[in-house]
Amino acid sequence: MAHSNSTSPSNKLQGKVAIITGGASGMGEATASQFAAHGARAIVIADVQDEMGQKVAASIGSNVCTYIHCDVRDEEQVKNMVDSTVKAHGSLDIMFSNAGMGRATLTCDQTALDMDLSAYDKIMAVNARGMAACVKHAAKAMVEGHVKGSIICTASIAASVGTQNFADYVMSKHAVLGLMRCASLKMGAYGIRVNCVSPGAVGTPLLKELLGYENEEEDKIVESYYYLKAGALRPKNVADAVVFLASEDSEFITGHNLAVDGGCKA
Ligand SMILES: NC(=O)c1ccc[n+]([C@@H]2O[C@H](COP(=O)([O-])OP(=O)(O)OC[C@H]3O[C@@H](n4cnc5c(N)ncnc54)[C@H](O)[C@@H]3O)[C@@H](O)[C@H]2O)c1
Repeated sequence: MAHSNSTSPSNKLQGKVAIITGGASGMGEATASQFAAHGARAIVIADVQDEMGQKVAASIGSNVCTYIHCDVRDEEQVKNMVDSTVKAHGSLDIMFSNAGMGRATLTCDQTALDMDLSAYDKIMAVNARGMAACVKHAAKAMVEGHVKGSIICTASIAASVGTQNFADYVMSKHAVLGLMRCASLKMGAYGIRVNCVSPGAVGTPLLKELLGYENEEEDKIVESYYYLKAGALRPKNVADAVVFLASEDSEFITGHNLAVDGGCKA
C-alpha cells in the first residue's frame, strides 16, 4: 500500500522504540507508517514475508525502520526479536503484537460439526500461542529495562461474538482478549499498559483468504458490515487507534478492548 501523508506529523511517539509483528502487510504495515509519522525513533517490523517486510521498511526509511524475520510460533525467534531490538536501540517502549492468520484450511468451514483439528492447531499456534510469546517477552524486556511501556494486541470483533463458521479463528481471538486481561493486571504494578485493538472487517489479504472474495467486491462487502456510513474501514483507521493506545494520550487506559468497527452489525 502507499504510505499516505494524511496524518500530520506529531511527536506523540517521539523517541519511542517499537516492534510490530505482522508488519509486512495490512494493519501492521499501516501502523508502521503511522508510528513513523508520529516520531518513533526505531520501528522493527517482524514477519515471515521477508521480501514484503523489507520493502515496507525501505519505504519508511532505513534510518527509522528495519525488518527482522520472526515466526511468532517459535518462542526462541520471538525472544531473539525482542533481545536484538533492545540491544540495537537500548529499550523497548511499544509492542504491537498483531501477526495473525485467518484460516488454515480451505476445504473446511470449521463449524462445530466439521472442525478440522489440525487446522485448529495451526490457527491457535499463531493467533493465541504466538501472541502469548510476544506479550511475555516484550513484558519481560520492559520490566528489566524499567520501561513503562505499552503493549497492544490485535484481537478482532470475532473476539466478542460467535459465528457459525471459522470457530477456530473466533476461539483464537477470544484467547487474545483473555491474555490481554490477565497481562494487564499483572503488568499494572510495573506501570506497563496492555490493551487490545479490535478491528471490524478490513480488506486485507487475511480477510480475502478468510471470506474468499474478489477485489472488486471488497469495499461493498466490507462497508455492509457497519452501521456507520463512512466508507470502508481501512488499515489506517486501525493504525490511528493503535497510535492512541501506544501514546501518552491513553496513559490511564489498560485492560481495555478498543473496537474500531464503525458500529459493527456482527
Ligand atoms: N482483516 C480483517 O478483517 C481483520 C479483522 C479483525 C482482526 N484482524 C487481525 O488483524 C491482524 C493483522 O491482519 P491483517 O488483516 O492486517 O492481515 P494481513 O494478512 O495483511 O497481515 C497479517 C500479517 O501477519 C503475518 N503473519 C502470519 N503468520 C505469522 C507468523 N507465524 N509469524 C509472523 N508473522 C506472521 C503475515 O505474513 C502478514 O504479513 C491479525 O491478527 C488479524 O487476525 C483482521
